[in-house]
Amino acid sequence: MRVYVGSDHGGIEMREQLTALLIEWGHEVLETFGPQSGESADYPDVAFDLCRALLASEESEVPAFGLLVCGTGQGMAISANKFPGIRAGAVSDAFSAKMIREHNDANVICLGQRVLGSELAALILRSYIESTFAGGRHETRVGKINGIDEQARLVSS
Ligand code: RB5
Repeated sequence: MRVYVGSDHGGIEMREQLTALLIEWGHEVLETFGPQSGESADYPDVAFDLCRALLASEESEVPAFGLLVCGTGQGMAISANKFPGIRAGAVSDAFSAKMIREHNDANVICLGQRVLGSELAALILRSYIESTFAGGRHETRVGKINGIDEQARLVSS
């Protein structure tokens, strides 16, 4: 798979660790967003840049997904989910990682460097990558998630 990777300063080490693993597993890391070691960045800025690139890449036939790391994974997920077309899940276990793909068709996975050990983070990422969207009844529900963007615009205008 093709992957966009990003982190703020709270996720640099895990971003680098998981980038190396993704390459080892045969995936293509398209672009890396976020600061270098010793630098700082606000997670909404990194989430914005990665989501913009990910959505632009959806024109391509080969699917891509996003991996965002911050201290908890939560700030990245909250930020990424503001983008219409992004479905991001912050997860701390392998079962949820599988489910956000099978049921929610999540195109971004968010992990917390201050929450997870490196072995568990690798297991979670692998579980996410090796799962596929189940479709069927979940298609309807994901369609409804996407419909909320438009509905929310109408009720808040
Ligand atoms: C940065 O210190 C920290 O707040 C951030 O990485 C993340 O945990 C926010 O959700």
